[in-house]
Order: sequence, then C-alpha cells, then structure tokens
Amino acid sequence: MKRDMRTIVKSIVLPQLENILPYPAGKPISELERELGIKNIVKMASNENPFGPSPRAVSALKNSLHNIFRYPDGNCYDLKRKLSEKFNLKLENFIIGNGSNEIIELLIRAFVKPGDEVVMAEPSFIVYKTASIIAGAKRVTVKLENFEYNMDRILDAINKKTKMVILDNPNNPTGAIIYKKKLDELVKNLPENTVLVLDEAYREFVQDRNYPGELDYISCGKPVVVLRTFSKAYGLAGLRIGYGITDESITDYINRLRQPFNVNFAAQVAAVAALDDREHIEKTIANNSEGMKFIVKNLTELGLRCVPSHANFVLVELPVDAEIMYKELLKRGIILRSMKGYGLSNYIRITIGLPEDNRRVVTEMRNILEEMGKINATTI
Ligand SMILES: Cc1ncc(COP(=O)(O)O)c(C=O)c1O
Repeated sequence: MKRDMRTIVKSIVLPQLENILPYPAGKPISELERELGIKNIVKMASNENPFGPSPRAVSALKNSLHNIFRYPDGNCYDLKRKLSEKFNLKLENFIIGNGSNEIIELLIRAFVKPGDEVVMAEPSFIVYKTASIIAGAKRVTVKLENFEYNMDRILDAINKKTKMVILDNPNNPTGAIIYKKKLDELVKNLPENTVLVLDEAYREFVQDRNYPGELDYISCGKPVVVLRTFSKAYGLAGLRIGYGITDESITDYINRLRQPFNVNFAAQVAAVAALDDREHIEKTIANNSEGMKFIVKNLTELGLRCVPSHANFVLVELPVDAEIMYKELLKRGIILRSMKGYGLSNYIRITIGLPEDNRRVVTEMRNILEEMGKINATTI
C-alpha cells in the first residue's frame, strides 16, 4: 500500500523534531487587522521599542538603499569596528548574527553534541530549549523560585557532562536578573570545558547597581559569551541583528560555521548608526521606567500580581485563563503575549509601551475583568 507523504516524511525526519513546536511569535499587527478588520491596533507582545527605530538608523538606511544589489560585508567590518571602539576590544572579539537568536543556535551547533547536557532556567527564552533539542542534547532545567534565579541550584545542576549553561539575564519572560555576586560565584566554579552563554537581550533596561557589567567575564580564562541585540532597546527587530562578545578562539570557530553573509546589508548599516544615537536609547529607557511604574501600580490596584521586572516587559498573574484574556484584548485591538506556551496558563506578558498604550491596556484589562465579574468597583 502506498504511504501518504506525511507518513513518509515522519519516517525520515530527525526524530527530535517531533518534540518541538514552531516558535510562538507575537501576533503581527497586519494579521489582526486582516482577521478583525480593525485599525488602531497596539502590539505589546514582543518587547519591541514603542518609539520605533532610531531616526539616525532610518536615515542611514535611506541613504544606503542604492547598495542593496551587492552582497553585504560578510565580516561586518564597520559594525565590529564601532563595537571594538565602544568596548575597547579587538574586532575578533565580536560575533555578529542574524539576531542574537542566530548566535544562540550557532553556539549550540558549534559546541553541543548529542548526549551533552545543557543547563538552563525554567522558564527562560524558548529558543534555548528548541536549539538544544535539535542538537540532541539533554536539557537540564532549573526552575526559577518565585520567578527569581536560585544560582546555587544552577551550580548544583552543572557536572562533567555539562557542555553549556545558557542564562538570560534579565530572564524572559519574568524580567528577573542574576546579581553580580552570584554570577561571580558561578563563573568561579564553572568547569573550563563548559561554555557559559549570558544572554543580555534586555541589558539596556536594567537599572539595578548589582547587575554585572557586560565585560566582567570576557577575560576570565573560561569560555564565556555575552549576547546583545539590536532588537529591543535599539528598535531594529525587523532587520534581525545582534552580537556576541567573547574570546577570539570562539569567534574563529563560529566564523567557520556561519553562513558567509549571515547578516544583511540593511541591518549592518542601521546598527552602526543606531549605536551612535544615545538620545534615542535614553528616551527609550526613561519611558520604560515610567511605563513600568504606571502599569505595575495600576494592575496591582486591580488586585493582579505583577512579577518584579528589570526589563521592558512585565509578567502578570490573572484571575482567569491567559488565553481568554489574550483573546478578549485582541478584540479590543491590543496584542499581548499569553504565557500558556511557557506552562504559565494564567499569566500574560505585557511589553511596556508609550504612555497612551499603557493607559489603554490597563483600562481594557480592568473592563474585561469587571465584565467577567472578577473585580468589582470596590476593588478598584
Ligand atoms: C532573552 C532573549 N534572547 C534573545 C532574543 C532574540 O533576540 P533577537 O531578535 O536578537 O534574535 C529574545 C527575543 O525575544 C529574548 O527575549
């Protein structure tokens, strides 16, 4: 009997692909517009910059569009030079990727073989999980406790088979950070054949003085990689560009593995210009701290628990299923992120927006909860 295509493909595909789902991205505004035929939609689901890109990046891009017929610089020279000046490091200390997401995958492909252990927090950025499953690694997850890191538990999870420890600092989706003292201890006790990946996608937003510096572990004599991105505070998520800071020996191997032109031309041009736009970053950070205070204060007054966050988003516990709240908000033109996929079925993650977005989300959540009888006038 002839087998159908799905059966044939299932029998030949990598078996580990059965255990993962496609990345659950935030719903695009255009999709909701198509589905509901509504305008004035606000997306607070993917931790993007509510002000958009740096105007300097936009004008650099406009001025260079005539060059897009050429392949980009495969070595990202201009960007690496700029970063090397910023951090006082060599060009060889930087890995540039098609988003920091690509660098996570390249590092796992370069270092992790089937059976190796990869230690990560639970919950944490979902790509750590999918990339290590694809590599055939054994995932060792360490649960956050009350949404905070317990670094002693992470140290306990490391053994001879641990090839990589990958930690988001701040954590996505909670916004928790790892404090310098605790990270110093981890690095001190890290076996030298374990790669430590510190994913600092949200570094720009952290204001706590006990947060480690991005270069604190780069010359510690152990394989440490710090990941940064242009997708969040820099407002360039649509171009896909991020970078890693590490020892040149690691960069050397990643250069052998990556595609020759992994970072597109437009992304390189915009990133170089965005790095010079301090004003845009400062405005973004100031708006974020004000917006965070506003959302946390107002949702707390509604009786909702907001997990303390150092990033540009906040995880909120709801008295209802997150999918229900998510869908109700969609009808009202607000896209948030339900955390069901992270196993947090009554939590929603809100990216801090512009003041008017923040007011709108608070008002609509209050209306929905009131309509559902979950709060009443006396609780407000
Ligand atoms: C912790 C963390 N790391 C990495 C990324 C990916 O960023 P990029 O757009 O640079 O691939 C994200 C995006 O949501 C993130 O939350």
